[in-house]
Amino acid sequence: MRRILVAGNWKMHGSRAMVKELLNGLLAGTRNASEVDMAVFPPFPYLSEAQTLLAGTSITWGAQTLNPIAQGAHTGEVSAGMLLDFGCSHVLVGHSERRTIYGESDEDVAVRFEAALAAGLEPVLCVGETLQERENGETESVVDRQISAVLKRSGIGGFERAIVAYEPVWAIGTGETASPGQAQAVHAFIRHKFVSQDDIIAGQLRILYGGSVNGSNAADLFAREDIDGGLVGGASLKVEDFLAIRNAVA
Ligand code: PGA
Repeated sequence: MRRILVAGNWKMHGSRAMVKELLNGLLAGTRNASEVDMAVFPPFPYLSEAQTLLAGTSITWGAQTLNPIAQGAHTGEVSAGMLLDFGCSHVLVGHSERRTIYGESDEDVAVRFEAALAAGLEPVLCVGETLQERENGETESVVDRQISAVLKRSGIGGFERAIVAYEPVWAIGTGETASPGQAQAVHAFIRHKFVSQDDIIAGQLRILYGGSVNGSNAADLFAREDIDGGLVGGASLKVEDFLAIRNAVA
């Protein structure tokens, strides 16, 4: 049985005071052992706070993106080695906001995925279609293209230590969640794509759903066969909302 993972993508939110309060609240609320893993993805400046407060606890942490180059004249960028310095175990790659606002192509995402793996970080590959693409019946072809770019570079072996997050763009931050049936259908499609290459890796791969997950819809989503947890944006910024998602399945 794959363990459920509830991951909080804070995006560009927070302050030092808020991060302290949020992490201390999560730690207080997760003292009891549970079948649910938890991870947080704060903005870069707060990774140090995460390391200080979360080291040695059951909550892991990671960054929201990385630059695939190890070091050099890349003003404003952060490398995998720097993330390791701050104790990160995971990194998001290819979040839809990175793809659309910052122009990351499928190939850019594949390069970042490969760099994360090479450094020993576990990448969380985000994929998903826009509303227009769904309405055009292109959901599967879009997700297939996004995953294929990564498979081409890192191979199926690259997914032995990686996570996939299916995040329909139309459900991100909109309050409109994919129904459990809609999400499961895409998750099954994704898993099947990996099964055709290696059924053991496919069987162990965690595929998270993201897009307006909250305490009320989490249990139904995570009960579906191929939904192994959630990548949570808005609802991960409040202790009680994030814990409600964990406790919906704990
Ligand atoms: P949301 O964001 O939960 O606020 O919809 C999810 C995400 O972008 O990862």
